[in-house]
Amino acid sequence: MLQGKKIILGVCGSIASYKTANLIRLFVKAGAEVQVLMTKDATEFITPLTLATLSKRPVLVDYFKADTGEWNNHVDLGLWADLFLIAPASANTLAKMATGVCDNLLLATYLSAKCPVYFAPAMDLDMWKHPATQQNIEKLQQFGNQLIKPAFGELASGLVGEGRMAEPEEIVAFLDGELKKKLPLNGKKALVTAGPTFEAIDPVRFIGNHSSGKMGFAIAEKLNQLGAEVTLISGPSAMQLNSKQISRIDVVSADQMLEEVNRHFPKADITVMSAAVADYKPASAASEKIKKKEAEFSIQLIKTTDILSGLGAQKKSGQVLIGFALETENEQEHAIQKLKNKNLDFIVLNSLKDEGAGFKGDQNKITIIDKNLTTETFDLKPKTEVAADICQKIINLVS
Ligand code: CTP
Repeated sequence: MLQGKKIILGVCGSIASYKTANLIRLFVKAGAEVQVLMTKDATEFITPLTLATLSKRPVLVDYFKADTGEWNNHVDLGLWADLFLIAPASANTLAKMATGVCDNLLLATYLSAKCPVYFAPAMDLDMWKHPATQQNIEKLQQFGNQLIKPAFGELASGLVGEGRMAEPEEIVAFLDGELKKKLPLNGKKALVTAGPTFEAIDPVRFIGNHSSGKMGFAIAEKLNQLGAEVTLISGPSAMQLNSKQISRIDVVSADQMLEEVNRHFPKADITVMSAAVADYKPASAASEKIKKKEAEFSIQLIKTTDILSGLGAQKKSGQVLIGFALETENEQEHAIQKLKNKNLDFIVLNSLKDEGAGFKGDQNKITIIDKNLTTETFDLKPKTEVAADICQKIINLVS
């Protein structure tokens, strides 16, 4: 969740400031940009050089740059950040934040910041328990700032009690959770199918199709980025997932896909059937390799189960069901028929008459038709962007 996020880390004068070195490393490892602001006292506990080296940016302490006399613009800093974390937050800084004092760059930036502010206090147990500190903390929370609670344990004074700054790993997990909560599909479970299915003729041959799985994988990744808990059921595909959070189940045949989809569908809030499931399969697969003999050879095919129709029939209120249609003629008419027959919320239509649409390539051109028959046609674009268009439609439906 912290990937690409711009973080201001405000460091106050506290022995716990040594923990910020590790905290910055975790932020950077997660792909965040970190700008460190320190109070003067904080620089006595840990050197700006250490934090500048780890954050790969100069640390800012003063309003003015001593060498050039230039101004460190706290307003720009406040606008730049996606989130502002004050860790460790000393009792003194918390009191100043609660009363609007801004006698250093950290505090001026806090007052200017438009982004969410989080604070992780660190102090001795009696300072923490003092009604003045508790009142300030309450006030800060009323202002909309979020407290990352200190832990109970051994303190620098040798006393044991509440006041230890939360560990860097806990702070990162807390922020990660907070950012997740803000995502539009947070708390939703999504089921996506992708790729082709292979229907066995004998142990070495099959009936398949050209689906690469790219569209379904892109949808799974996007739903995950938007906060959904995603299960991807994929037919044979060379595609790899970027996100480790998506649970991937590999299947080969339409029957296997049917079984896995039916197992996961009851819990899914959102289901996207983008797999190119075979409509027919050999009536029986030979157990040994079929040898060539006659000049002509035919295979009897029987229908596979239409997975999506089955889902449409069992769909409960609140479940969103999306299908795909790949058509070559009377596209809209056929797609609307499928939308209605399969009880879908919307259908994504690919017309093979549109250059660049369909299985092959990294681009796609789609038309979305919803159950009110509202039709929206999109330009030819990369499949990752097509996935974003489809997911936006899903967000509109679930919110
Ligand atoms: N589908 C399915 N199970 C099948 C076949 C297709 O769930 N056995 C799903 C696909 O994942 C897709 C949609 O149904 O979302 C496609 O509808 P379908 O009527 O099967 O389209 P075609 O296979 O293209 O059918 P036709 O050949 O009749 O156009």
